[in-house]
Amino acid sequence: MSTPIDNSQPLLQMTGIQKWFGRVHALRGVDFEIKRGEVVGLCGDNGAGKSTLIKVISGYHVAEQGQILWEGKEAKLASPYDARALGIETVYQEQALAPHLSIARNIFMGREPTTFLGLMDQKAMNEMSMKALASLGLKLRSPDTTVATLSGGQRQGVAIARVIHFKAKLVILDEPTIALAVKEVREVLEFVRHLKSEGVAVIFITHTLHHVFDVADRIVIMAHGAKLADIATGDTNVDDLSDIIVRGTYGD
Ligand SMILES: Nc1ncnc2c1ncn2[C@@H]1O[C@H](COP(=O)(O)OP(=O)(O)OP(=O)(O)O)[C@@H](O)[C@H]1O
Ligand SMILES: [Mg+2]
Repeated sequence: MSTPIDNSQPLLQMTGIQKWFGRVHALRGVDFEIKRGEVVGLCGDNGAGKSTLIKVISGYHVAEQGQILWEGKEAKLASPYDARALGIETVYQEQALAPHLSIARNIFMGREPTTFLGLMDQKAMNEMSMKALASLGLKLRSPDTTVATLSGGQRQGVAIARVIHFKAKLVILDEPTIALAVKEVREVLEFVRHLKSEGVAVIFITHTLHHVFDVADRIVIMAHGAKLADIATGDTNVDDLSDIIVRGTYGD
């Protein structure tokens, strides 16, 4: 697939985003943008506001102030449903999957195709699941396998196969490599490269700069609810980025 990507305007453009939790000022006027097919690593210390920012994008939190444009138009992101309808899919850590259900059920969770009798169409689900998994290069024995028996990397693969099937334009991965073995981290990075090659934009949150640096086009560092730095990976390196996070300052 090689549809030319129109990158004349950002896919998502957020300006002046403010979010409060009671007296906690979690986002202090954050500007953030991402283009089609771009991979952005979102880094920064605990409590910096990373998850809050992506929850605003995925419709879980509504910002008190700020503007959000999607494909150049004002976007309403009042619920996760709104975000999904635009093509924004979020892959959380473990809670995204139901371990006791099959791979196929996990891919379709809540959006199962039905037969004309209104029953869940198991056959269609199995076929579409295997197709989505195969397109990721992930070979799993059967769509009936329960997720509980999969490795951490394979589970991330199933979660990502879901977003591939539903044709996401922006995929958000909140710490997808936490608690994964080295080989599994590599698998997840391959999934990210695959999404990028399909023109899908990816926001990848991690505390481990090494995990995201090679796959990211740009790194955004947050601190205390604000954006501290926004740098193309070609213009920096992991050591300099780590220094920025540790010092909590940039550009002085
Ligand atoms: N639902 C909530 N209710 C109240 N405060 C919250 C809530 N969610 C986040 N916060 C607060 O907002 C701030 C930003 O939190 P957030 O979870 O966005 O940080 P983070 O960068 O994702 O951190 P971590 O790396 O630890 O996941 C923190 O002070 C946090 O305590
Ligand atoms: Mg977080």
